[in-house]
Amino acid sequence: MPVTVNERSGLFRIETDNSEYQLMADSYGVLRHLWYGERVGMSMEHLQDYPDIGFSGNIYEAGNDRGYSLDTLPLEYPCGGIGDFRINAVSAVHSDGSFALDLRYDGYSISGGKYIIEGLPAVYADYDEAETLEIFLKDTASDVFVTLKYGVLPKLDIITRCAVIENRGSSDIFLTNAASFCLDMPSDYSEWIHFHGRHTCERLTERRPLLHGIQESSSIRGTSSHQQNPSLILCGKDCTETSGSCIGVLLMYSGNFSARIEYDQLEQIRLVMGINSELFRWELKSGGRFFTPEAVMSYSGAGFELLSHNFHKTIREHVCRGKYKLSERPVLINSWEAAYFDFDDNKILTAAKEAARLGIDMFVLDDGWFGKRNDDRSGLGDWYVNTEKIRYGLDGLSKKIKSFGMDFGLWIEPEMVSEDSWLYRSHPEWAIAVPNRKPTRGRYQLVLDITREDVREYLYNVISGILKSAEISYIKWDMNRSVCDWYSACLENKSMGEMPHRYVLGLYELLERLTSDFPDVLFEGCSGGGGRFDAGMLYYCPQIWCSDDTDAFERTKIQYGTSFFYPVSSIGSHVSAVPNHQTGRSISLKSRCIAAMHGSFGYELDPAALSDAEKAEIITQTERFKKCRGLIHNGKYYRLTDPFDSNLSLWEYVSEDKSEILLQGMQFRAVPNFTKNKIKLRGLDENKNYIVAADEKIYSGKALMSGGILLPEASGDFFAYEIFIAEAK
Ligand code: GLA
Repeated sequence: MPVTVNERSGLFRIETDNSEYQLMADSYGVLRHLWYGERVGMSMEHLQDYPDIGFSGNIYEAGNDRGYSLDTLPLEYPCGGIGDFRINAVSAVHSDGSFALDLRYDGYSISGGKYIIEGLPAVYADYDEAETLEIFLKDTASDVFVTLKYGVLPKLDIITRCAVIENRGSSDIFLTNAASFCLDMPSDYSEWIHFHGRHTCERLTERRPLLHGIQESSSIRGTSSHQQNPSLILCGKDCTETSGSCIGVLLMYSGNFSARIEYDQLEQIRLVMGINSELFRWELKSGGRFFTPEAVMSYSGAGFELLSHNFHKTIREHVCRGKYKLSERPVLINSWEAAYFDFDDNKILTAAKEAARLGIDMFVLDDGWFGKRNDDRSGLGDWYVNTEKIRYGLDGLSKKIKSFGMDFGLWIEPEMVSEDSWLYRSHPEWAIAVPNRKPTRGRYQLVLDITREDVREYLYNVISGILKSAEISYIKWDMNRSVCDWYSACLENKSMGEMPHRYVLGLYELLERLTSDFPDVLFEGCSGGGGRFDAGMLYYCPQIWCSDDTDAFERTKIQYGTSFFYPVSSIGSHVSAVPNHQTGRSISLKSRCIAAMHGSFGYELDPAALSDAEKAEIITQTERFKKCRGLIHNGKYYRLTDPFDSNLSLWEYVSEDKSEILLQGMQFRAVPNFTKNKIKLRGLDENKNYIVAADEKIYSGKALMSGGILLPEASGDFFAYEIFIAEAK
């Protein structure tokens, strides 16, 4: 039983294999947070004995006890407006204009299995793999009830959180904040790592000390964004890949979010994460319920590596779904960087035929196949094939590609419309814009109002029509701008503060319908690369195009940052042509391949333009990838160096039984007159012997991990390493 309760003291303990979480309903019914960390086996209430702190007031019932303050105690789901002056997790405006909520304990329930969340993606598990704790809270004055849900996957050291807010009062209220969770911590965690960036440069790691006041990682772009990822790590100064305590949190949500950390007056830490309260104002009618998105947390007492392993396994086995969840992903070739908008069916078929000879499994026709779409100024929304370019139609083209022994995939960008399109001319009211104001354009395009049911119905019919019209095995679902100008004529209550969340709910509804009606189609997410790379999207699309930057050097950093939470199988990664289209840099085909193998692998170049030597090399690359695809996607992943801090970017995949290891990576800059690079391996069995393919010698696991191996001598910039290591039997 991972969840136990002591009804007398009000203590709840959630135990996973290697972590423990404690909360307590105290004698005033205040739900306090006691502990999240290693297993301690007893109540940690003794750490909470506060003196009177000036200007931190006291709840009325505390009488003369000036030490009992909501402003100092670690709380489980702090409310706004009642004397806790730190960031709150929930706040509401009542019909009389007041904005206080005072949620007190009102019971609990424990059940087998993992809860689901209506309309939102959530971690799932078999009945006997998980347990659910629900804590009921109530604001007596307003009859607002909140259920805090905890999903426990003990074997994975994962605890999930969400809240359901219910208005059982007689008047309507407005929620102005509805976070997924709050985590109040002592000051043991003095640093945080977040993942920031921009288009073509996503999820770069930044480790910063926590400073007094509030620090935030967030998005109000309508998507989870390139700029900040909805994931972060709290850690101590001394935490490394392999040692020290850290807590990772991941929001399973693809829209506006915020993760706010307050380092308060008493040097305690409060982390509140969920839908961004900026641009959020949700009318909760009498009788209505609001479901927050899911947050996923894990604690590691052995550094970031273990934390990543917990998240990788959870995302692969308890977030991703469908046929491709654990099965082998096809090696694909995508037409974008090879042709952009400039192609016809002859060009496509020539490329596809050549790609088939190179051992590539699937041809993906990217942007430009539909409507009037010869550049990015027109055509979005007109999802019918452009027969001037594709004379055979999608059906004819897909059949021809199939005849080469390849599958066929297609790019779409359903949420968008170009003003120069039939769709826009027929339905200008479907594009998001504020009445009497000109909308902001992004990449010339406008955003469709998918909060509207008629728009979603139209998109469902159009996309399912495409999928039925041809032999399509894959869809790349793109989204190429940030959203603003929030206004929907269909929102009856005119509370546009509901629209960003309703947009995400609409997206999820559409994806749920399509992915369940077309279970054999592999959906890959994309938003100008990795602008919506989050666990919400991974619930529908088991892989996401990681970045529009295909430069192998840049990719090692982007993929390094991505790997802290997201498994390698979820990272769409391709070998592209040189000089690279984003950076102008030229890197060898071998190094480009090694960087791209760190993901769901493919190519993004014109195979017809390759030399014979390059083609021969690609044939060996696809063979090699297919041989180690199982190890790369199912094995444990180890970051061996930090590419932000080193001239080496090295990583390693280790099979579950520790019998096969693949070490890959690159040295960025050539170094003259120096020793060979040495690297210590990780995750091996120290009692086993291993053969290192580089020199065919036998080493003990202990020697490889404690002392390491010397890497072959590097020559030239961006020199790639690839070493197979196998158990010597
Ligand atoms: C986005 C994607 C690219 C490509 C283009 C097409 O930028 O990330 O991979 O599909 O759109 O317009």
